[in-house]
Amino acid sequence: MTSQLHKKGETWSARFSEPISNLVKRYTSSVSFDKRFALIDIECSLAHAAMLSTQRIISQDDEAAIRKGMEQILGEITRGEFEWQLDLEDVHLNIEARLTALIGDAGKKLHTGRSRNDQVATDIRLWLREEIDRIVSLLKSLRGALIDLAERHSDTILPGFTHLQVAQPVTFGHHLLAYVEMFTRDTHRMLDCRKRVNQLPLGAAALAGTSYPIDRGQVAKTLGFDGICLNSLDAVSDRDFAIEFTAAAALIMTHFSRLSEELILWMSSRVGFIELADRFCTGSSIMPQKKNPDVPELARGKTGRVNGHLIALLTLMKGQPLAYNKDNQEDKEPLIDTVDTVVDTLRIFTEMVASITVNADAMRTAALQGFSTATDLADYLVKRGLPFRDAHEAVAHAVRICIDGERDLLSLNLEQLRSELPEVASLLGDDVFDCMTLEGSVASRNHIGGTAPEQVRASIIAARTTLSL
Ligand code: ARG
Repeated sequence: MTSQLHKKGETWSARFSEPISNLVKRYTSSVSFDKRFALIDIECSLAHAAMLSTQRIISQDDEAAIRKGMEQILGEITRGEFEWQLDLEDVHLNIEARLTALIGDAGKKLHTGRSRNDQVATDIRLWLREEIDRIVSLLKSLRGALIDLAERHSDTILPGFTHLQVAQPVTFGHHLLAYVEMFTRDTHRMLDCRKRVNQLPLGAAALAGTSYPIDRGQVAKTLGFDGICLNSLDAVSDRDFAIEFTAAAALIMTHFSRLSEELILWMSSRVGFIELADRFCTGSSIMPQKKNPDVPELARGKTGRVNGHLIALLTLMKGQPLAYNKDNQEDKEPLIDTVDTVVDTLRIFTEMVASITVNADAMRTAALQGFSTATDLADYLVKRGLPFRDAHEAVAHAVRICIDGERDLLSLNLEQLRSELPEVASLLGDDVFDCMTLEGSVASRNHIGGTAPEQVRASIIAARTTLSL
């Protein structure tokens, strides 16, 4: 009996007695989104065919015909001429059907010793490996842009916050390098995940392996895999590599979301620390004065969408018995959308960070408010012998008096300061003002990981060396 697989509109195979309805066809097909893997699917098929020929499972002539047919299909796809058919369910069956239409029987031999189950798992892994490499390189550009900005602002001072209340002065360079740390860890996470992505499932066939004398090592080598999935049931069924990737992507988006939150705040006219170039903002259709930070707001919003994809993939996997189940077809859209969202966000932020202009005066003015160097005054007293808790109490008292009198600690002269701090007046000398200035405060935090400009410059040199990653 001849297979009716490739005849449009007919039953799926000889096993079936009636065709599926159009609704079921649409519901079960994946070609609208998995055609994204077309070129990789061809690459995998060529590696499989070459191995079949080396192992004398198919003839060299068949392999040559397959190669020639695939070249033609590749051209049709890249020129946008390929006719994708919903009836043929997915990218794999579409390409195989076209191959057979072009080269006849040799095309029908390509699927020997493999199944769509190991085929699709191989396609996703290869595709994801390329996307990880792209993401790692985009992370590098972003880190470079952040480091450049940090370098220009190693000495620029702004208030550091805890609980969104003014806490202590910090350098803007130091603040930006915090994000460099986050995105560097994201890079490591991507590279680590890549190792587990880059394992070859092909050869697992439907679930149990195959009775043909295949050489999985040859296929792995041709396709650049680091290793081979060692259990056929696991190879075709688990999508933990995709979940792991999406978790790492969700963390990248979380870091973008935090940065976005700050950019939005800094750009508010009530704060005015920075400006983003107009090309990253939009206006309002009703309020002519508005310039809205749309890009950071959208990045914050899109973080929710990637987090959703992570939950979708985890949930997809959790109820599945071994081995392959069609549920797994649902892995593609969340994964593809995660990649697209992260890639676009990385690209746009790299450009946007380079476009930031800083209002150092506004930052400085803000740092001078809110008693940001009160801790430095307490530390000064401790260095002169007062226990820290007593110093804390004395300074808190002085701050309270200043608040009531609507004054700032820094506006007091030595005599006034001594009278505000009567119990510790004898410990206060002229040098107290050195440590209470913004510059004195940041310069004194001069240890690894501290905010001092000297440390920022050292961290920038160190961060640049990590860009080789
Ligand atoms: N389109 C399918 C997927 O994405 C390919 C594997 C189909 N396998 C099967 N036994 N129906 O998972």
